[in-house]
Amino acid sequence: MILWFVAHYDLMRGLHILAVIAWMAGLLYLPRLYVYHCGAIAGGELDAILKIMERRLLRGIINPSMIITLIFGLCLIVADGNIRGWAFLLQPWMITKLVGVAFLFAWHGYLARARKHFEDGINIRPEKFWRATNELPFLAAIIMVIAVTTEFGRH
Ligand code: HEM
Repeated sequence: MILWFVAHYDLMRGLHILAVIAWMAGLLYLPRLYVYHCGAIAGGELDAILKIMERRLLRGIINPSMIITLIFGLCLIVADGNIRGWAFLLQPWMITKLVGVAFLFAWHGYLARARKHFEDGINIRPEKFWRATNELPFLAAIIMVIAVTTEFGRH
């Protein structure tokens, strides 16, 4: 099994990146829907349409792509550990990557809770908040991708 991970490392890396693209697209789009939702009249047509769009986006794209990203990420960790030794997990670039991962999981959970609130007709944040925080996942992605591609601080 571990040998299989090592032999198919490049394929898993490609699938990992594809899943990341879908996860990021969803995390960037969902708060845009929340911006429109803040301006929608509760119980109105737009409110109803946005509830459906938000539910489908979260359940159909964001949750599955997060799970696939995680599965291939864990496979890459197993393969990497066997190829170059487990110490890579403690290198600055990988710690940076894992902190970014923790942030994205937390943000994902926060957006999922906000969706529940919108579904229940409660809006806990103003439109300004969703506009201001919309780019946070992309900022995290820039830091994470540069960390894994440059492997800064590698020893
Ligand atoms: C969900 C948890 C995640 C885990 C456990 C994980 C783990 C990994 C591991 C072990 C590698 C191989 C590193 C190497 O030796 O080159 C990797 C590659 C990569 N990861 Fe992740 N990752 C996760 C999420 C993400 C996210 C959210 C992004 C982007 C925002 C990302 C972007 C990348 C990229 C671009 C590569 C390829 C790097 C290269 O080949 O140079 N990963 N990931």
